[in-house]
Amino acid sequence: MQKTELAERFEKHGLVHLENVLSPEQINILKKFTLDNLKENHNKSFFLTSKSNHKISDFFKQNEEISKKINSVIYDLSKELKLKNFQDKKIYSVLRVLHNKRIKKESYNFHFDAHVITLLVPIIIPNRENSDNGHLLISPNLRKTTNSILKNIIEKLFYQFILKSFNRKKFALKLLKLKKIILKPGSLLIFNGFRSLHGNLEIDEKDTRATLLIHFYDQFHNSKLVQMNRDIRIKKEKLIIKRNSQNG
Ligand SMILES: [Fe+2]
Repeated sequence: MQKTELAERFEKHGLVHLENVLSPEQINILKKFTLDNLKENHNKSFFLTSKSNHKISDFFKQNEEISKKINSVIYDLSKELKLKNFQDKKIYSVLRVLHNKRIKKESYNFHFDAHVITLLVPIIIPNRENSDNGHLLISPNLRKTTNSILKNIIEKLFYQFILKSFNRKKFALKLLKLKKIILKPGSLLIFNGFRSLHGNLEIDEKDTRATLLIHFYDQFHNSKLVQMNRDIRIKKEKLIIKRNSQNG
C-alpha cells in the first residue's frame, strides 16, 4: 500500500489492517521472544514495556529487519499525517501476554490510548472453537482529537462509565459501534489509538494471547499527570513481573 493511501485510510477510517507484512520466520522470532519471557514469568500474564527495562530495545537491536518494517510504517505515516515534530518523539512499546490468571480482568478492558498511532503486532492468537480467541473490538475514530487534557479525562470517564454501567450488554456495544477484528500473526493493525475505543474479547484459560503494541506520538507528552499515571502503571507491571518470576 502506498504511503499516502495508508495515511488517507488512517484519517478517514481510523484503522488500517495490513496483511502478510511479517514473514513466518519473523513471526517465529517474535514468538520465541514471547515464550522465553512467559517462561521467566512462570507462565503468568505480564506486560513488558520499553520503559521497564532494556529487553525490548535489545530485541529490536538484534532483529533489525523487524524493527525496520515497524519503524518505517510509523515514521512514514507520521510524515504523511504531518504530525508536528514527530522526529523528536520516542516509540513506546509494550509486549502484552495473557495467559492463565488475569485473563478475565484484562478482557473487555475498553480504553483510548494516550498516543495517536497504535500499531498492533499479533504474535500468538488462539484459534479455538467456542471461544472468542481474544479478538479485538474497536470503535474507530469514535471521538475527536483534543488538546484539552480535561476534555480527554472527562471523555475517558464517560465511556468507561457507559461500559461499566451496561456491563458488556449487546446494545451498549452496538451503540458504541464496536467492530470485531480477527487478528492474524503476520499482519499489522494500525489505528488511531487516541480516537478509537478498543479492548479485547476473552480467551480460553488454557490459551495464550500475545501482542506487541507500538505506540507513537503522545498527545499529552508535556503533561505531568499523564506521565505520572503511566509511570504508576509501569511500576505496577514491574512488580507483577518480579512477583511472577519469584513465586513460580
Ligand atoms: Fe490500547
